[in-house]
Amino acid sequence: MTKKIAVLPGDGIGPEIVAEAVKVLEALRDRFGLKVEMEHGHIGGAGYDAAGHPLPDATLALAKAADAVLLGAVGGPKWEALPIAVRPEKGLLGIRKGLELFANLRPAQVYPQLASASTLKPEVVAGLDIMIVRELTGGIYFGQPRGIRNNAQGEREGFNTLVYSENEIRRIAKAAFDIAMKRNRKVCSIDKANVLECTELWREIVTDVATGYPEVELSHMYVDNAAMQLVRNPKQFDVMLTDNMFGDILSDEASMLTGSIGMLPSASLDANGKGMYEPIHGSAPDIAGQGIANPIATILSVSMMLRYTLNEAALADRVDAAVSKVLDQGLRTVDIWTEGCKKVGTAEMGAAIVAALD
Ligand code: IPM
Ligand code: MG
Repeated sequence: MTKKIAVLPGDGIGPEIVAEAVKVLEALRDRFGLKVEMEHGHIGGAGYDAAGHPLPDATLALAKAADAVLLGAVGGPKWEALPIAVRPEKGLLGIRKGLELFANLRPAQVYPQLASASTLKPEVVAGLDIMIVRELTGGIYFGQPRGIRNNAQGEREGFNTLVYSENEIRRIAKAAFDIAMKRNRKVCSIDKANVLECTELWREIVTDVATGYPEVELSHMYVDNAAMQLVRNPKQFDVMLTDNMFGDILSDEASMLTGSIGMLPSASLDANGKGMYEPIHGSAPDIAGQGIANPIATILSVSMMLRYTLNEAALADRVDAAVSKVLDQGLRTVDIWTEGCKKVGTAEMGAAIVAALD
């Protein structure tokens, strides 16, 4: 059966990098029998410009009808002055919530070819392979009440709510343990249970879920310590299980261990394996339109889509191998370039990966 993919390029470098990922999908379709059809939609600032909202109804409908979503990035200075309710980021949060994509998988892997591109010593990061499993539709990002109000002293105060139900904790914990079973069978759950009641409950439920996975070794770590351990000795981690906000922060940190945030894909999955796939980096408005952005994170997001939603593991391996091959050839976009390598632009990198699929 032909699978439907909703393609949402978004803003900034989004359209440039998504164009290269679409070329990879087209090549897989034309040369390797992948049965897919793609339809484009607007999201983020592009959604606001086209339809007055960062998540136009038509886009949400398109994404709901699709088997998988490929997303670029959202946001940029052009829309920063808009009210928070219609800012590009709301489009992203809205589609995550609208599709109930509660499990966000953010791998941080170091390619041997790029170990020297990291700001950390190569021996600290070589061979690194971490999977951050971040809760994506709850926690402080969505908790009510929230807002800015006047307090009794007549002074303005801002407030947000960190809230997780047992069920929300349980399902993301299960997702993390299931993934750990296919990896090195270690889960480190991140919390701030020494201060926050919400994460005290988090720790209790995760510990309970772990009893169903006797082969997985569970540890708990406070988030501040985790931030430190990630740069001190990152290879101690296999799967890191986090809430929404801690995962947002730690995944950016983990990405830099790999040399460039331009290399890292992500998957956001619902309870049935439907998913949205996007690079973890942002829209990089400072380099948009210059043709120099690294399309690899988006192309690797296609690989994750093949693996997690389309059940095409062999094609996913093929995409991963093609990326590895062009790195072996010494091709580098500017963000991962080091002395002695060949500097290429977005389209050249995409074309090289497409050619390396054979
Ligand atoms: C991310 C981003 C988003 C988040 C923003 C753009 C809303 O930082 O995907 O990590 O905070 O989740
Ligand atoms: Mg983030």
